[in-house]
Amino acid sequence: MSATPATTTFLLDGRPVPFEPGQTIMQAVQAAGGYIPHLCHHADLPPIGSCKVCSVRIKGRLVASCTYPASAGLEVESEQDDINADRKRLIQMLFAEGNHHCPFCEKSGNCHLQALAYHLGMQDTHFVQVYPQHDVDASHPDVLLDRSRCVLCELCVRASRDIDGKSVFAMAGRGLQTHLIINSPSGQLKDSAIAVSDRAMSICPVGALMPKHQGFKVPIGERLYDHTDIAQRPEDT
Ligand code: SF4
Ligand code: FES
Repeated sequence: MSATPATTTFLLDGRPVPFEPGQTIMQAVQAAGGYIPHLCHHADLPPIGSCKVCSVRIKGRLVASCTYPASAGLEVESEQDDINADRKRLIQMLFAEGNHHCPFCEKSGNCHLQALAYHLGMQDTHFVQVYPQHDVDASHPDVLLDRSRCVLCELCVRASRDIDGKSVFAMAGRGLQTHLIINSPSGQLKDSAIAVSDRAMSICPVGALMPKHQGFKVPIGERLYDHTDIAQRPEDT
Protein backbone atom coordinates (compact mmCIF):
# COMPACT_ATOMS: atom_id res chain seq x y z
CA MET A 1 0.00 0.00 0.00
CA SER A 2 1.61 3.22 -1.15
CA ALA A 3 1.47 6.37 0.91
CA THR A 4 -0.51 9.34 -0.45
CA PRO A 5 2.07 11.80 -1.83
CA ALA A 6 2.32 15.08 0.04
CA THR A 7 0.89 18.03 -1.89
CA THR A 8 3.68 19.92 -3.60
CA THR A 9 3.68 23.64 -2.92
CA PHE A 10 5.60 26.86 -3.40
CA LEU A 11 5.22 30.07 -1.41
CA LEU A 12 3.49 33.15 -2.83
CA ASP A 13 4.07 36.12 -0.53
CA GLY A 14 4.56 33.63 2.28
CA ARG A 15 1.41 31.57 1.63
CA PRO A 16 1.62 28.00 0.25
CA VAL A 17 0.21 27.42 -3.24
CA PRO A 18 -0.25 23.83 -4.46
CA PHE A 19 0.73 22.99 -8.03
CA GLU A 20 0.69 20.14 -10.54
CA PRO A 21 3.87 19.18 -12.40
CA GLY A 22 4.12 21.24 -15.58
CA GLN A 23 2.11 24.20 -14.32
CA THR A 24 3.49 27.72 -14.44
CA ILE A 25 3.35 29.95 -11.38
CA MET A 26 0.43 31.83 -12.97
CA GLN A 27 -1.50 28.63 -13.70
CA ALA A 28 -1.03 27.33 -10.16
CA VAL A 29 -2.03 30.66 -8.58
CA GLN A 30 -5.12 30.94 -10.79
CA ALA A 31 -6.09 27.31 -10.07
CA ALA A 32 -5.88 28.13 -6.37
CA GLY A 33 -8.20 31.15 -6.85
CA GLY A 34 -5.43 33.73 -6.51
CA TYR A 35 -4.54 36.67 -8.71
CA ILE A 36 -1.35 38.00 -10.23
CA PRO A 37 -1.87 41.10 -12.44
CA HIS A 38 -1.44 40.17 -16.11
CA LEU A 39 -2.34 41.39 -19.59
CA CYS A 40 -1.00 39.14 -22.36
CA HIS A 41 -1.83 35.92 -20.51
CA HIS A 42 -5.14 34.09 -20.92
CA ALA A 43 -5.91 30.72 -19.36
CA ASP A 44 -7.24 29.36 -22.70
CA LEU A 45 -3.98 29.93 -24.60
CA PRO A 46 -0.27 29.14 -24.35
CA PRO A 47 1.65 32.03 -22.74
CA ILE A 48 4.14 34.20 -24.62
CA GLY A 49 5.51 36.26 -21.72
CA SER A 50 5.62 39.57 -23.58
CA CYS A 51 3.93 42.29 -21.48
CA LYS A 52 5.78 41.62 -18.18
CA VAL A 53 2.82 42.89 -16.12
CA CYS A 54 2.79 39.49 -14.40
CA SER A 55 6.38 39.85 -13.18
CA VAL A 56 7.12 38.35 -9.78
CA ARG A 57 10.38 38.18 -7.83
CA ILE A 58 12.25 34.96 -7.09
CA LYS A 59 15.59 35.15 -5.31
CA GLY A 60 15.84 38.85 -6.10
CA ARG A 61 15.21 38.39 -9.84
CA LEU A 62 12.06 39.44 -11.72
CA VAL A 63 10.53 36.71 -13.90
CA ALA A 64 7.30 36.45 -15.89
CA SER A 65 4.98 34.30 -13.78
CA CYS A 66 2.95 33.26 -16.84
CA THR A 67 5.95 31.39 -18.28
CA TYR A 68 8.01 30.50 -15.21
CA PRO A 69 7.52 26.87 -14.14
CA ALA A 70 6.28 26.21 -10.61
CA SER A 71 8.58 24.09 -8.48
CA ALA A 72 8.61 22.91 -4.90
CA GLY A 73 9.85 25.34 -2.29
CA LEU A 74 10.05 28.43 -4.55
CA GLU A 75 9.64 31.66 -2.62
CA VAL A 76 7.72 34.01 -4.90
CA GLU A 77 7.04 37.67 -4.18
CA SER A 78 4.14 39.34 -5.99
CA GLU A 79 2.04 41.75 -3.91
CA GLN A 80 4.96 43.99 -2.97
CA ASP A 81 4.86 47.79 -3.30
CA ASP A 82 7.91 48.01 -5.58
CA ILE A 83 6.67 45.24 -7.90
CA ASN A 84 3.23 46.85 -8.19
CA ALA A 85 4.94 50.20 -8.86
CA ASP A 86 6.80 48.59 -11.79
CA ARG A 87 3.55 47.06 -13.05
CA LYS A 88 1.91 50.48 -12.90
CA ARG A 89 4.77 51.98 -14.95
CA LEU A 90 4.22 49.33 -17.64
CA ILE A 91 0.52 50.16 -17.78
CA GLN A 92 1.33 53.89 -17.92
CA MET A 93 3.69 53.23 -20.86
CA LEU A 94 0.92 51.43 -22.71
CA PHE A 95 -1.48 54.33 -22.10
CA ALA A 96 1.15 56.83 -23.29
CA GLU A 97 1.99 54.78 -26.42
CA GLY A 98 -1.61 54.33 -27.51
CA ASN A 99 -4.74 56.41 -27.85
CA HIS A 100 -6.73 55.10 -24.91
CA HIS A 101 -9.48 57.61 -24.28
CA CYS A 102 -11.65 55.60 -21.95
CA PRO A 103 -14.71 57.89 -21.78
CA PHE A 104 -15.11 57.59 -25.57
CA CYS A 105 -14.35 53.86 -25.88
CA GLU A 106 -17.08 51.25 -26.12
CA LYS A 107 -14.84 48.82 -24.18
CA SER A 108 -14.78 51.06 -21.09
CA GLY A 109 -15.78 49.05 -18.03
CA ASN A 110 -14.94 45.76 -19.76
CA CYS A 111 -11.32 46.67 -20.59
CA HIS A 112 -8.44 44.85 -18.90
CA LEU A 113 -6.00 47.74 -19.46
CA GLN A 114 -8.37 50.21 -17.80
CA ALA A 115 -9.16 47.73 -15.01
CA LEU A 116 -5.46 47.14 -14.36
CA ALA A 117 -4.93 50.91 -14.21
CA TYR A 118 -7.61 51.16 -11.52
CA HIS A 119 -6.27 48.07 -9.72
CA LEU A 120 -2.75 49.51 -9.59
CA GLY A 121 -3.87 52.98 -8.53
CA MET A 122 -2.84 54.78 -11.73
CA GLN A 123 -3.67 58.50 -11.52
CA ASP A 124 -1.98 59.72 -14.72
CA THR A 125 0.09 58.43 -17.63
CA HIS A 126 3.39 59.71 -16.11
CA PHE A 127 5.12 59.62 -19.52
CA VAL A 128 4.72 62.14 -22.33
CA GLN A 129 1.80 61.12 -24.53
CA VAL A 130 2.99 59.85 -27.92
CA TYR A 131 -0.31 60.28 -29.82
CA PRO A 132 0.68 57.74 -32.46
CA GLN A 133 -0.94 57.61 -35.88
CA HIS A 134 -2.25 54.09 -36.46
CA ASP A 135 -4.51 52.73 -39.19
CA VAL A 136 -8.10 51.88 -38.40
CA ASP A 137 -9.54 48.97 -40.39
CA ALA A 138 -13.29 49.53 -40.70
CA SER A 139 -13.55 47.59 -43.98
CA HIS A 140 -15.44 44.60 -42.57
CA PRO A 141 -19.24 44.85 -42.22
CA ASP A 142 -19.25 43.43 -38.68
CA VAL A 143 -15.75 43.94 -37.23
CA LEU A 144 -13.68 47.03 -36.40
CA LEU A 145 -9.93 47.14 -35.72
CA ASP A 146 -8.55 50.32 -34.12
CA ARG A 147 -4.80 49.82 -33.89
CA SER A 148 -4.52 52.94 -31.68
CA ARG A 149 -5.94 50.87 -28.84
CA CYS A 150 -3.96 47.69 -29.53
CA VAL A 151 -1.58 46.71 -26.70
CA LEU A 152 0.21 44.10 -28.86
CA CYS A 153 -0.71 41.26 -26.51
CA GLU A 154 -1.06 38.78 -29.41
CA LEU A 155 -4.12 37.19 -27.80
CA CYS A 156 -6.04 37.57 -31.08
CA VAL A 157 -3.08 36.10 -32.98
CA ARG A 158 -3.02 33.01 -30.75
CA ALA A 159 -6.82 32.64 -30.50
CA SER A 160 -7.32 32.91 -34.26
CA ARG A 161 -4.59 30.35 -34.87
CA ASP A 162 -5.16 27.90 -32.00
CA ILE A 163 -8.92 28.15 -31.31
CA ASP A 164 -10.54 29.50 -34.50
CA GLY A 165 -8.11 27.66 -36.82
CA LYS A 166 -7.87 30.69 -39.14
CA SER A 167 -4.62 32.60 -38.43
CA VAL A 168 -6.20 35.91 -39.38
CA PHE A 169 -3.65 38.01 -37.43
CA ALA A 170 0.12 38.38 -37.11
CA MET A 171 2.59 40.93 -35.76
CA ALA A 172 4.93 43.00 -37.96
CA GLY A 173 7.56 45.68 -37.33
CA ARG A 174 9.75 46.32 -34.31
CA GLY A 175 9.76 48.66 -31.30
CA LEU A 176 7.29 51.53 -31.60
CA GLN A 177 6.58 50.40 -35.18
CA THR A 178 5.24 47.01 -34.05
CA HIS A 179 1.70 46.58 -35.32
CA LEU A 180 -0.98 44.04 -36.03
CA ILE A 181 -1.34 42.87 -39.64
CA ILE A 182 -4.16 40.96 -41.34
CA ASN A 183 -3.72 37.75 -43.28
CA SER A 184 -5.72 38.55 -46.43
CA PRO A 185 -4.88 39.43 -50.05
CA SER A 186 -5.59 43.14 -49.47
CA GLY A 187 -4.33 43.21 -45.88
CA GLN A 188 -7.82 44.32 -44.84
CA LEU A 189 -10.32 42.57 -42.59
CA LYS A 190 -13.01 42.54 -45.28
CA ASP A 191 -10.97 40.04 -47.31
CA SER A 192 -9.98 37.89 -44.33
CA ALA A 193 -11.66 34.87 -42.74
CA ILE A 194 -12.59 36.80 -39.56
CA ALA A 195 -16.13 36.38 -38.18
CA VAL A 196 -17.64 38.42 -35.39
CA SER A 197 -18.23 35.19 -33.42
CA ASP A 198 -14.52 34.24 -33.49
CA ARG A 199 -12.73 33.77 -30.17
CA ALA A 200 -10.11 36.18 -31.50
CA MET A 201 -12.75 38.90 -31.26
CA SER A 202 -13.98 38.28 -27.75
CA ILE A 203 -10.52 37.68 -26.29
CA CYS A 204 -9.16 41.16 -27.13
CA PRO A 205 -8.59 42.71 -23.68
CA VAL A 206 -9.03 46.30 -24.89
CA GLY A 207 -11.17 48.17 -27.41
CA ALA A 208 -8.95 47.37 -30.42
CA LEU A 209 -11.00 44.54 -31.94
CA MET A 210 -14.67 45.32 -31.55
CA PRO A 211 -17.93 44.14 -33.07
CA LYS A 212 -19.86 46.80 -34.98
CA HIS A 213 -23.56 47.60 -34.41
CA GLN A 214 -23.36 46.99 -30.65
CA GLY A 215 -22.74 50.37 -29.01
CA PHE A 216 -23.86 50.47 -25.37
CA LYS A 217 -25.49 47.03 -25.55
CA VAL A 218 -24.41 46.76 -21.88
CA PRO A 219 -24.95 50.17 -20.25
CA ILE A 220 -22.17 52.00 -18.43
CA GLY A 221 -22.44 51.03 -14.77
CA GLU A 222 -23.31 47.40 -15.54
CA ARG A 223 -19.98 46.33 -17.06
CA LEU A 224 -17.50 43.81 -15.65
CA TYR A 225 -15.19 46.18 -13.81
CA ASP A 226 -17.51 49.14 -13.18
CA HIS A 227 -17.91 48.12 -9.55
CA THR A 228 -15.54 45.15 -9.18
CA ASP A 229 -11.75 45.16 -9.06
CA ILE A 230 -10.18 42.95 -11.75
CA ALA A 231 -8.52 40.86 -9.00
CA GLN A 232 -11.99 39.76 -7.92
CA ARG A 233 -12.87 38.47 -11.39
CA PRO A 234 -9.92 36.22 -12.36
CA GLU A 235 -12.30 33.97 -14.34
CA ASP A 236 -12.69 36.73 -16.97
CA THR A 237 -9.02 36.89 -17.81
FE1 SF4 B 1 -4.19 42.14 -28.28
FE2 SF4 B 1 -6.53 43.17 -29.15
FE3 SF4 B 1 -4.18 44.07 -30.16
FE4 SF4 B 1 -5.07 41.63 -30.77
S1 SF4 B 1 -6.06 43.59 -31.33
S2 SF4 B 1 -2.95 42.16 -30.21
S3 SF4 B 1 -6.06 40.98 -28.86
S4 SF4 B 1 -4.89 44.26 -28.04
FE1 FES C 1 2.91 37.35 -18.27
FE2 FES C 1 2.19 39.26 -20.04
S1 FES C 1 0.94 38.25 -18.56
S2 FES C 1 4.20 38.49 -19.60
